[in-house]
Amino acid sequence: MNVNRRHLMTGTIGAAAVAMVASACASEDGGGDGSGGKKVGIAMPTKTSERWILDGNNLKESFEGEGYEVTLQYANDVAADQVSQIETMVGQNVDVLVIAAIDNKSLSGVLAQAKGQDITVIAYDRLILDTPDVDYYASFDNTKVGTLQGTYIVEALDLANQAGPFNLELFAGALTDNNTQYFFNGAWDVLEPYVTGGQLVVKSGQTTLEQIATENWDGAVAQERMDNILSNFYNDGSKVDAVLAPYDGISRGIVASLQGGGYTAMPVITGQDAEVESVKYIIDGLQSMTVYKDTRELASTTVDMVVAVLAGEKPDVNDTETYDNGVKVVPAHLLEPVSVDVNNYQEVVVDSGYIDAKDLA
Ligand code: GAL
Repeated sequence: MNVNRRHLMTGTIGAAAVAMVASACASEDGGGDGSGGKKVGIAMPTKTSERWILDGNNLKESFEGEGYEVTLQYANDVAADQVSQIETMVGQNVDVLVIAAIDNKSLSGVLAQAKGQDITVIAYDRLILDTPDVDYYASFDNTKVGTLQGTYIVEALDLANQAGPFNLELFAGALTDNNTQYFFNGAWDVLEPYVTGGQLVVKSGQTTLEQIATENWDGAVAQERMDNILSNFYNDGSKVDAVLAPYDGISRGIVASLQGGGYTAMPVITGQDAEVESVKYIIDGLQSMTVYKDTRELASTTVDMVVAVLAGEKPDVNDTETYDNGVKVVPAHLLEPVSVDVNNYQEVVVDSGYIDAKDLA
């Protein structure tokens, strides 16, 4: 079934064909080879970001392609709502939970219930903390995401050739998301030496994760913080030369703030997720780069893990050291993120079928 599943996720196959393949799988698996009749509950964080909609759709199609019955829920970035959605899935006796947590520390109680019922729990993209009851983690190399963002700034400003000084401002994601520190630390390891050496100057002085975090990864929150930075620290005619932004929605909030502040040419601005809107921004010179993470591949990796676990086999993991959730090191399968800018977006996100060229027109 792996071949069919990967084919399903090209995004070009029609709904009717999906249904046909899914029902073929269901009848093949009905004999009881392990996946027939199994139920999976998928808990995604929010529909406000395009990527989670793609993740949810890809997972649903892939699991259905394997003959699973799927419940897919979004919780609008409200952690308590996500907990109740998962409680309901546990009550429905799902065999597997796939969770992209809103608040990585809010799930211990409900996951203890899940384990009591022998439900397999996969942390999807975001690690779930402080619980023994998470079995596997499927994600990307989150430190590398930050490294790619930091390196982009270093190269765009030609810092290795002693250029500068330049003004840099820093943004990070939600403190409730375990990925936030990995992204920031990855970038900061690259940038900090230039701050220490004086080639980069953070005029706001805001460099700790607590100071630069963005609640709910919300672009409007980032926009407001950038507004404050501009009016408090750049009211002397000086300009921002680069902004470390961890995610496309935040990058676009920062662009809006800078436009409001009168910027006609944008500083170097990073991002993540290759959202259509941000790839358009890259083409239009409003955002410099994004980090592409193929959500089709992440869904496929997750389904492979689940199929293996439920068949009593060991899933394919490639990291058993990095992701300590406070109780245990969670075995992980990490995929490679890719840096995307105006020079390679066509090849990386369009030619691969991730984004339809007509959506960028
Ligand atoms: C992170 C994820 C990023 C981005 C962000 C905001 O957990 O790894 O790719 O999507 O959430 O949604």
